[in-house]
Amino acid sequence: MTFMNILVTGGAGFIGSHTCVALLEAGHQVIVADNLSNSKAETIDKIKQITGYGVTFYRVDVTEEETVDNIFANHSIDGIIHFAGYKAVGESVEKPLAYYYNNIVSTMVLAKASKKYCVNRFVFSSSATVYGENEVPFVETLELLPTTNPYGETKAMSERILTDVSRANPELSVSLLRYFNPVGAHESGLIGEEPNGIPNNLMPYVTQVAKRKLDKLRVYGNDYPTVDGTGVRDYIHVMDLAEGHVAALNNLTEGVHIYNLGTGQGTSVLQLVVAFEQVNNIEVPYEIVDRRPGDIAECYADVSKAKRELNWTAKRGIAEMCRDAWRFENG
Ligand code: UFG
Repeated sequence: MTFMNILVTGGAGFIGSHTCVALLEAGHQVIVADNLSNSKAETIDKIKQITGYGVTFYRVDVTEEETVDNIFANHSIDGIIHFAGYKAVGESVEKPLAYYYNNIVSTMVLAKASKKYCVNRFVFSSSATVYGENEVPFVETLELLPTTNPYGETKAMSERILTDVSRANPELSVSLLRYFNPVGAHESGLIGEEPNGIPNNLMPYVTQVAKRKLDKLRVYGNDYPTVDGTGVRDYIHVMDLAEGHVAALNNLTEGVHIYNLGTGQGTSVLQLVVAFEQVNNIEVPYEIVDRRPGDIAECYADVSKAKRELNWTAKRGIAEMCRDAWRFENG
């Protein structure tokens, strides 16, 4: 295997930081570009603490073309993994322009730099949200349905932009990774998910209820056509997801490739709560409330393509996800 210099945008964030760990452990060198708008500089030190390897860190905004250009001029970059972006679904409805500007311009700036500096590998952080309300399991060949929010649209548009850029410039190989529901933390408990304010997502909400920072979980609806009426999602341990990026990078071939990164297993909200309580031996009080607008009943992946072409499958189960999320909350 050849070792590469990889530019990781958003490398101080939740999925980005775990991917830096996986890249360093696989022998690659990492350059992080992050404006720390939703992350902390100390995460960069924690990456070194975990792996024993340092990363080169630039505190920059990836929408700024000249600044980004400088990074490419200073390093011989072999590949880009682009995570940097806004990611709160509800906020994207309130601030559509901020989402479209930040998430689309950053993709275009990086695509342009990849051509100028002859960088031929591009891995993009997409989302299962691009499938919209489709039939489960979601398979990569499904026709994408409109998403219900600007955040989802920015993912679908960025996929489209990178696809067109690769068609026009076939030297650029692109991997579009559609994440399902990343949860958990590195097993050291040193890095994990640190949402600003009250969490929107289920697992960080559960950990904060368990920690008694929040009084109880609100379960959004128990009248969906699912196993127990609550929403079903494909939760994936963030370290499995991180390792999926290394596999995508190492197996990148000419053209544009789309992969679901999930476990292929659906878990309901109540199943996740029970698992968390059992694994961590702690109670998570909850109440059932109305459905959350925009939520779908079920979302889980067909993961056969990633297994076949990347030789990658998720190894960690719900118990490890609950254990590591709780360890990080207590860290
Ligand atoms: N849920 C609750 N209570 C909460 C939070 C969530 O019951 O306080 C439920 C939701 O209704 C849903 C499930 O838990 O059934 C998961 O909700 P999340 O908010 O954790 O995740 P979503 O599936 O809604 O969305 C996530 C990411 C998106 C991404 C999508 C991809 O937040 O960015 O997965 O499938 F696009």
